[in-house]
Amino acid sequence: MAAAAVPVSTDDLAQLVLNTIDRDGAIASSADLRFQGQPVENQALHGALSSLERREMITYETIEFDKWVLTAEGADIEANGSHEAKVFNAVPADGLAIGDLAKKVGAESAKIGQGKAFKNKWIGKGKNGQLVRLVASIRDVTQEDLATIKKTHAHPDAKVLAELKKRKLCDKEKVTHYRVAKGPHFSTVIVKQATDLTVDMLLSGSWQNLDFKKYNFDALGQEPSGGHLHPLMKVREEFRQIFFEMGFEEMPTNRYVESSFWNFDALFQPQQHPARDMHDTFFLKNPATSNRFPKACMEQVKQVHSTGGFGSIGYGYDWKEEEAEKLLLRTHTTAVSSNMLYKLAHQEGGFTPAKYFSIDRVFRNETVDATHLAEFHQVEGVIADVGLTLGDLIGFINVFCQKMGVTNIRFKPAYNPYTEPSMEIFSYHQGLGKWVEIGNSGMFRPEMLGPLGLPDNVRVIAWGLSLERPTMIKYGIDNIRELLGHKCDLEMIQKNPICRLDKKMGREN
Ligand code: PHE
Repeated sequence: MAAAAVPVSTDDLAQLVLNTIDRDGAIASSADLRFQGQPVENQALHGALSSLERREMITYETIEFDKWVLTAEGADIEANGSHEAKVFNAVPADGLAIGDLAKKVGAESAKIGQGKAFKNKWIGKGKNGQLVRLVASIRDVTQEDLATIKKTHAHPDAKVLAELKKRKLCDKEKVTHYRVAKGPHFSTVIVKQATDLTVDMLLSGSWQNLDFKKYNFDALGQEPSGGHLHPLMKVREEFRQIFFEMGFEEMPTNRYVESSFWNFDALFQPQQHPARDMHDTFFLKNPATSNRFPKACMEQVKQVHSTGGFGSIGYGYDWKEEEAEKLLLRTHTTAVSSNMLYKLAHQEGGFTPAKYFSIDRVFRNETVDATHLAEFHQVEGVIADVGLTLGDLIGFINVFCQKMGVTNIRFKPAYNPYTEPSMEIFSYHQGLGKWVEIGNSGMFRPEMLGPLGLPDNVRVIAWGLSLERPTMIKYGIDNIRELLGHKCDLEMIQKNPICRLDKKMGREN
């Protein structure tokens, strides 16, 4: 048996390869390589060879071939002769009683060898039924063939190999070895390669004489351990791109706390409206109030709520500033839109047409279940221009939905305190087989736009969607708690692919 390969370091193997080539000119077969008298292990050798090849110090070829080896039984026959030869040798010149054969050669050889020896006419039956030799000497061909195989790991006669394999005396093994030659940068000295170009190298000029390690562009690279975008943020990015394509500007939504004024009052939402209840809205305790909203605008809001104006009779109740001062976590991003429209009306040079959007977090004091959390994200688009109509709103929503891959939509009349007319947006969901609500929309009321300071002929159309619903559909998540919150699996965030909304129809229009 060949000695077992010993573990050797890649550096030692590389040096062995270089020294051997230096001495012999090349390595015809790596099978002959020895490290401290031991054969070397193929996998480690392959590592050393590919590293030397990358540095162009050597070139190598892989050679695969079949190697014939003896089985345990084959090795025994090679050493001690075939069963039939053992039987022949056990029969002395004056004959042997049949009953004694097994004692001399063992039961197995006696059983297998006897018949063969008879067939070969090496032995026969003499007088008294004794076994006698029929020839003076024999050639044990099986033993000779096995000896050839043991020595050369092959045999010139393929039929012999097939026959001995069938008799389970030898078998075939696949063997790999390498043929190695000098490469263009052959040397017996392995210079440590530089991996980084440093400031010192540049200053001293030493980079000119250094051997730099080549980039391995096939390397898989290290998986980044951080910086994964949450699926919601991936979908948000897609929505942002749609808005940008349509010429919208992003509103600053980085403030979760708003006054009731911008969240409700400026939106013509009466102070007794149930949505302003503690059960629906999170109010702040500390600080609980702020009066940092424009006072002139506030006066107009107060008036339109209590006594009317801008063509409206108002709600006819006693509007209170304290109520408008209450701080809350914004319940919708329309709080930001109302503030932005005020700024648009009061910007230097006065009103100009504008298209705004926002995608951010809002908060509602809701019972948490599989599809509701106390916080979620809204996607909102707002367009302000002279003479806009409901037709414009329907048209914009259609284009917007097409761009997000939703083509089959319908509108249903609805009610919002701040829009008239108002429309819920429904889309036909193939999977559920029914119409599902995907958003809300409308034309802002004059009672809202007037106090904000927008000119009479300016109309503002707007729509809002949730970000969670399309995200859950896109990523096949059916419980919102798997998407957001402490039960959210970080691996889900790391492994999910980037978002591509299905835009079969939309991109070109
Ligand atoms: N603010 C509304 C909501 O929270 C959505 C909406 C936005 C409706 C703009 C009309 C116009 O559902």
